[in-house]
Amino acid sequence: MAVIKVHDKSFETYLSEETILRRVKELSAAISKDYAGRRPLFIAILNGSFMFAADLFKQLTIEAELCFIKLASYRGMKSSGNVVTSIGLEDDLFGKEVIIIEDIVDTGKTLHNFLPKLQHQQPKTLRIATLLHKSEATEYPLDLHYIGFDIPNKFVVGYGLDYDGLGRNLKEIYQLV
Ligand code: IMP
Repeated sequence: MAVIKVHDKSFETYLSEETILRRVKELSAAISKDYAGRRPLFIAILNGSFMFAADLFKQLTIEAELCFIKLASYRGMKSSGNVVTSIGLEDDLFGKEVIIIEDIVDTGKTLHNFLPKLQHQQPKTLRIATLLHKSEATEYPLDLHYIGFDIPNKFVVGYGLDYDGLGRNLKEIYQLV
């Protein structure tokens, strides 16, 4: 098992590139089946979800749209989740079939705070696809339709996820030692 350092902390391999991509392909197939003929709009939440969004999106076998938005606010290793606003959400969501793409749902606070802003625009449907879910850490329960991996309540980096700005480029997902 590979151990790496990001800033001052040691991380060990938790999910291999192959494991991640296999699961992303499964999620993409499930979404393609569920949304056949419905032309969904994916809203990927930056920064962490960019890699997951790209891999998930390119495996789709249906017509779909994609946009990226940015919320607030995660510093260091503690989630604040105090979403104030979103940047880049220009599409009118009225009547659309919306799927949010998240890298990880930890306490659930970020999406809990953000979902009402989307619902306000009256999309036809609204679902969440998250690569990782720390179900043990849940403080704000959410209806998560597509979950890649349910993981323990330990900090992870890689495949888009960072620790204080670093680690996003790693192909695997690493867990804090
Ligand atoms: P929540 O609001 O507590 O659900 O946290 C969601 C956000 O916190 C995610 O979109 C990530 O940006 C960040 N986050 C939570 N856990 C981790 C982690 O283990 N590694 C990196 N980022 C994390």
